[in-house]
Amino acid sequence: MKKRLIVANWKMYITSPKEAQALFAVIKGVASKLRHVEVVVAPPALFLPVIAQGYGGSKVAFAAQGVSVHESGAHTGSLSAAQFAASGARYALVGHSERRTDEGMTQDGLRLKTFLALKYGLTPIVFIGERERDSAGRYLEVLKGEILATLTELPASKLEEVIFCYEPVWAIGKDDILDAYEIHQMALFIRKVLLEHYGSKLAQNARVFYGGSVNPENISEVLAISDIDGAVIGRASSDAVAFTELLTLANK
Ligand code: PGA
Repeated sequence: MKKRLIVANWKMYITSPKEAQALFAVIKGVASKLRHVEVVVAPPALFLPVIAQGYGGSKVAFAAQGVSVHESGAHTGSLSAAQFAASGARYALVGHSERRTDEGMTQDGLRLKTFLALKYGLTPIVFIGERERDSAGRYLEVLKGEILATLTELPASKLEEVIFCYEPVWAIGKDDILDAYEIHQMALFIRKVLLEHYGSKLAQNARVFYGGSVNPENISEVLAISDIDGAVIGRASSDAVAFTELLTLANK
């Protein structure tokens, strides 16, 4: 059975190791009681070793907020999939819209980063989503292009490991989510693309998430959408009270 995943993307909200440890202590306490939900925390890279090395539990996994398109070598300021794997990460966020000015945010970047994440044992959570919607539906072509670019060149045995998170750029950091019907339509669209290009097994088994302004008020609505297997939480995951409430609701 597919497990629901809640991903806490702390972005740059956390400023010190102490703050990271305090927030993580709350999250691991709540997570230890959850039966239906798995939690993934994506801290700022600087604080990943601080919290991951002191944690021996199995209820929370860690994610890189982003990995380089390069495998290793002379790339000042970049962090590789191998480095994240060696520091305790098990997942990697790939292609988040807030990294679009970063290296490799082309479709080629999605392919390279996904490939490197998998090579080093990280499960890629690939963000796909349009900047804006046009009435002619061209945004669907953008999405399709991103999906196919991500999966191209991956061996068949790795395809099911890739998680797609539909996160329309215009819906990030707002007060509420996209309409639930719309989210469902987009999840179906992603599965349709997978069906047409890779067959029914992948279309059925692939994990599809939603991200963009998910908070305690709307998490139940998001997880009630069939074809959605998890959610990525930004702002609300950096607040211990809000995130505790969100996890408790997600577990119901
Ligand atoms: P948000 O961020 O929950 O603050 O909208 C989500 C994300 O960007 O991953």
